[in-house]
Amino acid sequence: MTDRYAVFGNPVSHSKSPHIHMAFARQTGQDISYEAIEAPVGGLKEAVCEFAEAGGKGFNITVPFKLDALALATSRSRHAELAGATNCIKVEGEQILAENFDGVGIVRDIEINHGFTIAGRKVLLVGAGGASRGAILPILEAGPETLAIVNRTAAKALDLKAAFAPFADIAASGYDDLAAEHFDLVINATSASLHGNMPPLAPDVFAKGCLAYDMMYGKGMTPFLQLARGSGAAALVDGVGMLVEQAAEAFAWWRGVRPDTAPVIADLTVPLT
Ligand code: ATR
Repeated sequence: MTDRYAVFGNPVSHSKSPHIHMAFARQTGQDISYEAIEAPVGGLKEAVCEFAEAGGKGFNITVPFKLDALALATSRSRHAELAGATNCIKVEGEQILAENFDGVGIVRDIEINHGFTIAGRKVLLVGAGGASRGAILPILEAGPETLAIVNRTAAKALDLKAAFAPFADIAASGYDDLAAEHFDLVINATSASLHGNMPPLAPDVFAKGCLAYDMMYGKGMTPFLQLARGSGAAALVDGVGMLVEQAAEAFAWWRGVRPDTAPVIADLTVPLT
């Protein structure tokens, strides 16, 4: 029997998740369906109950439901708990298990697909919203020498510093107070690139030969990546690999089979020109 999966969002028609998961299913011979479901804002619970009662086995969650979905869960992984959000749910009878694979996805993309080892490196996370929060624990688990967070609203960076204090001493500041330091890995986790904007970063945050990563995907050379290129970054990466890697984590969790991400990333990659 075909097992049913979905992504919930609003809007959701732009989501690449059905395409990615169906590509994984073909590749691994798994008999699944995967649909995009637009739930009304404030109506996630009803939509999820209907899906689960109809035999739905699991689902992804995208904007604006990642926090609401965490509240529905009967059990939360450490990554979901610390991210304060979930992007992946497994339904097991009455149990709703919440995970968050966004951060694991970016770390796998950086380390495996781009061959960049985070251990011992100086890392700068730009932004202090949900995307940044979800990446912190997986980055810390990869063993950087230091992690700094910079955000337009400094108080939000300081909140993250406090939330993750049991794990590491993260530096947190606004852009004006960012220590004059060069970073080996600079990750743009702001939503600025969505609007073609640029976080007000000084060019010298990029160490010569560093990797610059924009979590945004499919936007080509964002202002952030352009600044990085002009400042000596050796590798420029957008978030397509993160998107596919988090999906692969979800697929492996649901189905017990790990798909090959490379062909799916290649299929979705928009050249950085
Ligand atoms: P997400 O879940 O995608 O992280 P979010 O929680 O709304 O979305 O966070 C957006 C992040 O992008 C925040 O860090 C925001 O900075 P503020 O906390 O100061 O609002 C950052 N951001 C958005 N537009 C920006 C811009 N033009 N310049 C700098 N930072 C920006």
